Amino acid sequence: MHSVYARINNVSATLSTSLMILLAAIACSSFLFTANPTGSVNISSVKVFSAEARRYPNRQQEFAFVDFNITADLSPLFNWNTKQLFVYLEAQYTNTQGVQNEVVIWDRIVVRKEDALLNYAGKNKYPFRELSKKFKNIPPANYTLKYNLMPYVGLLTYGEAARTTAPVAFPLAKERVE
Ligand SMILES: *[C@@H]1O[C@H](CO)[C@@H](O)[C@H](O)[C@H]1NC(C)=O
Ligand SMILES: *[C@@H]1O[C@H](CO)[C@@H](O)[C@H](O)[C@H]1NC(C)=O
Ligand SMILES: *[C@@H]1O[C@H](CO)[C@@H](O)[C@H](O)[C@H]1NC(C)=O
Repeated sequence: MHSVYARINNVSATLSTSLMILLAAIACSSFLFTANPTGSVNISSVKVFSAEARRYPNRQQEFAFVDFNITADLSPLFNWNTKQLFVYLEAQYTNTQGVQNEVVIWDRIVVRKEDALLNYAGKNKYPFRELSKKFKNIPPANYTLKYNLMPYVGLLTYGEAARTTAPVAFPLAKERVE
């Protein structure tokens, strides 16, 4: 009895060791196979509107509305170990206090290689506002298309697919009646 148990234990220990080595090898290989996708980010217009914050009358909060156009071929990122891609457009700017800000204004999850050819024109999906309430005097922003690659086995990988060729200025705010 004893020896049978010992044997089973030994076999399963060997199996799980092999499995660990295999998984580690897969995790390393997906780094090696990560391709660099290329694309373009085109900001057609940025508008800034000022609105009265609902909770605090007399306090103006500015919102930026970004019209953009992105194309990217993310299909090189798809291999047998690709579970999904989280793709997002990020605005990067330095505010008047000198703080570097990164704001996600749009995102999409891509699970199939067939959907990995991005060609999208639209507006920001999430409200884009500045903590200091105003975009006035804030230097032009860069817009970057980034992704997180979530593999079946291994670590999340981050990457950049495209960015604006030149920084884009924030215009002065227009009043908006709510
Ligand atoms: C960006 O797209 C607009 C139309 O949406 C076009 O007029 C403009 O030429 C494009 N800019 C670049 C750099 O491709
Ligand atoms: C998107 O931008 C490309 C250039 O980057 C341009 O050729 C195309 O016309 C734009 N499409 C839309 C819908 O703005
Ligand atoms: C925008 O990109 C340019 C060129 O890569 C860089 O010099 C500048 O510092 C960037 N600005 C911000 C606010 O990240």
